Amino acid sequence: MRVLRRALGTLLVLGAVSCTAAQTGDARAGDDPPAALTPFERLLPAPLSVRAGGPGYSFGPGTVIRTGPGAGPEVRRVGELLAGQLRGPDGPALPVVAGVRGDGIRLRVDGAEDGLGDEGYRLVSAPGGIDIVARTPAGLFRGGQTLRQLLPVSGPGTVPGGTVTDRPRFAYRGAMVDIARHFFTVEQVKRYVDQLVPYKVNTLHVHLTDDQGWRLAIDSWPRLAQYGGAGEVGGGPGGHWTKEEYRELVAYAGERYVDVVPEIDMPGHTNAALASYAELNCDGKAPPRYTGVKVGFSSLCVAKERTYAFVDEVLGELAELTPGRHLHIGGDEAHATPAADYAAFMDRAQQVVGRYGKTVMAWHQLAGARPAPGAVLQYWGHDRTSAADRAEVVAAAKAGHPLILSPADRVYLDMKYEAATGPGLSWAGYVPVARSYSWDPGAYLAGVPESAVLGVEAPLWTENVATRAEWELMAFPRVLGLAELGWSPAAALDWTAYSRRLAAQGPRMEAQGIGFHRSPDVPWTR
Ligand code: ACM
Repeated sequence: MRVLRRALGTLLVLGAVSCTAAQTGDARAGDDPPAALTPFERLLPAPLSVRAGGPGYSFGPGTVIRTGPGAGPEVRRVGELLAGQLRGPDGPALPVVAGVRGDGIRLRVDGAEDGLGDEGYRLVSAPGGIDIVARTPAGLFRGGQTLRQLLPVSGPGTVPGGTVTDRPRFAYRGAMVDIARHFFTVEQVKRYVDQLVPYKVNTLHVHLTDDQGWRLAIDSWPRLAQYGGAGEVGGGPGGHWTKEEYRELVAYAGERYVDVVPEIDMPGHTNAALASYAELNCDGKAPPRYTGVKVGFSSLCVAKERTYAFVDEVLGELAELTPGRHLHIGGDEAHATPAADYAAFMDRAQQVVGRYGKTVMAWHQLAGARPAPGAVLQYWGHDRTSAADRAEVVAAAKAGHPLILSPADRVYLDMKYEAATGPGLSWAGYVPVARSYSWDPGAYLAGVPESAVLGVEAPLWTENVATRAEWELMAFPRVLGLAELGWSPAAALDWTAYSRRLAAQGPRMEAQGIGFHRSPDVPWTR
């Protein structure tokens, strides 16, 4: 069933039934040539509901952005940010003015709009202006991203008449980047934030440490970054972020309502730390730095008290730098740590996170130990993951641990699309665009109710992704599918309809200079 129809004056509540293609991941996009979509039909992620109809609003040289009533500095700041995004290099000035009476783009927070939740919004387009109403400034910002998509690619023009009422299905909609295997700068990561916010992604997880590099300066253990950061896969120079740079990223993302979740991977994936400080090794000897791509060979020394001073001081400094709730402590592939030691270590690391007032996030292997109350588990299994491993995760979810779903054979952005893809790996199989999109997070793990799913995240590991161009090629367009899976109602998830919305994003990605994979699954129009 076609999800979005041209519907003048008709309420469209997205209620399509998933088709066979969505269940199997088959790409059938080429059955018929795509009719041009209306601006409302193009929206990605698909909104909760659209009522299209009536004359719309045309931007002019004198269009202003209005805030109020009684809007504080935060709403004004959202207005300024939207003005910058909407105006483009040579569009109208779009000054932000106080008071919502009069023509223009009117931003209004209304605490009584309970139905919109923390990030939802209502956007009404009519000849006298565009109203965006939300319960929070974050909702206004998300609504502003919808407005961007309703405009022509070339910038401010005419928005058709109608109403969009929208809110996300899941609270956590994330993307991860590994800056440990190959180093990337804060500027490069900020660009990713800019590329993700149009699609309403709200979390950026940064994998800061691994065997090949330690990427964040820690005052109490300076050699971690100075020595442990000076290398990467393949022998390049690596690098690290100063605390000031990290703060700058957190602030930049935060202004766009994107939370940063930092990850210090422990007790495995720690060769860079072990190489930097001999005292962290059980035998007191520092191994050499590592530039290969093997996993599972390193471990912090669980029996040494010094290890816990390290964990405490590192996580303490990280907590102080990080306003978000979550600290990710890794916990994956600790093959060099005996199971009892692993559980004992994770007990103590989790206590430290709690002591600093944060919530633990960890890869799903923590389910096999003793996850602390409230710990969030990130599932990265795949269709061939053993029933026993899945059962552990399902039991943890039933015991109250929220899950982030990152199935490797769907949303690991470092998996090649096909054999011919240059960068990336294929240990979880090839992941074409249709397959990446075609699963339902609310029903993905049998026995896990949708209410236990906090959200979804698309990780990008960088063992074999060495440049920003390779990163873009692997992330785009698959990360847009992840954004829709996290935001749109279950009834809207339909590959054929999605593939057309995605095709309509092609010129927008081009205009942003994104070098995306022109997947044959998608009916690109140019
Ligand atoms: C992982 O891919 N080792 C979490």
